[in-house]
Amino acid sequence: MKTLKTSLTAMMLALGIAGVANAAPVEIKFSHVVAENTPKGQMAIKFKELVAERMPDKAVVNVYPNSQLFGDNKVLEAMLLGDVELAAPSLSKFNKYTKALQLFDLPFLFKDMDAVERFQNGPAGQELLGSLKKKGLVGLGYLHNGMKQLSANDPLRTPADADGKKFRIMSSDVLAAQFEALEAVPLKKPFSEVFTLLQTKAIDGQENTWSNIYSKKFFEVQPYITESNHGVLDYLVVTSAEFWLTLPDDVREGVKEALDEAIAFGNKVANDKAMADKQAIIESGRSEVLTLTDAERQQCRSDEAGMETVRRRNRCRAD
Ligand code: LMR
Repeated sequence: MKTLKTSLTAMMLALGIAGVANAAPVEIKFSHVVAENTPKGQMAIKFKELVAERMPDKAVVNVYPNSQLFGDNKVLEAMLLGDVELAAPSLSKFNKYTKALQLFDLPFLFKDMDAVERFQNGPAGQELLGSLKKKGLVGLGYLHNGMKQLSANDPLRTPADADGKKFRIMSSDVLAAQFEALEAVPLKKPFSEVFTLLQTKAIDGQENTWSNIYSKKFFEVQPYITESNHGVLDYLVVTSAEFWLTLPDDVREGVKEALDEAIAFGNKVANDKAMADKQAIIESGRSEVLTLTDAERQQCRSDEAGMETVRRRNRCRAD
């Protein structure tokens, strides 16, 4: 009897151990909308590599670039349903979930990327990482892309040049108000549609970073790019609380460490690419890069007449 009991226990133990050893690694699907040769594309690949190198038996990362899996208009919904684990939409695309992150969309708020970095690493920036908590989402970190430039079919030098023109914007009401202040027409459209909208001249222009303008070939269908540096396009790396909090502690810690390193790598790529992709666009000769004089830049910063129009319009809507 004793022998039977002992061998049963031994069998159960063996099975238990085999069960742990055979537990499949957790799959982390990382969905994004940009090309692989961009800061976010490179960061995602680095993250996948680090996880594969350090914890192959615990987690596996599969990256879906170029809106292959979800566009940014659907990815957060899909995340809450458990269909995707990781994404990094731009800070302008959380409109439906929180208004707090729209602070990043205010024009001319940050002088350059160093100022953005200082703010994000400071107490207010760190607090904003938690602004999606009530919606079941966890902000895991900021990732840089860079300062935005304005591209168009016609040269844009002063606010009046944008009057009546249609611009594609990301899904942010603050961005919409900016273009309305210029008496322009903002259209919220997914990133995956921008090239065709520009190519067919359904819209007149758009705002984006050097790396997005280059990697998605917007410069081939936009004769002018104004180096306006008028706003920032950065990302929030995000997951669902349900996924994140139910991971075993060691897996969560390992994944977070790999993610932090991948973000630092992506930020370096962002810095290098902003310069290299701008240069590549200039050298292509397809698009003329316009530099603003101090006076022109100042005029864009303080377009009070435009802001007054928006205030008046909003007051009418409210009435
Ligand atoms: C855009 O929609 O223009 C950007 O948010 C795309 C991206 O992810 O950089």
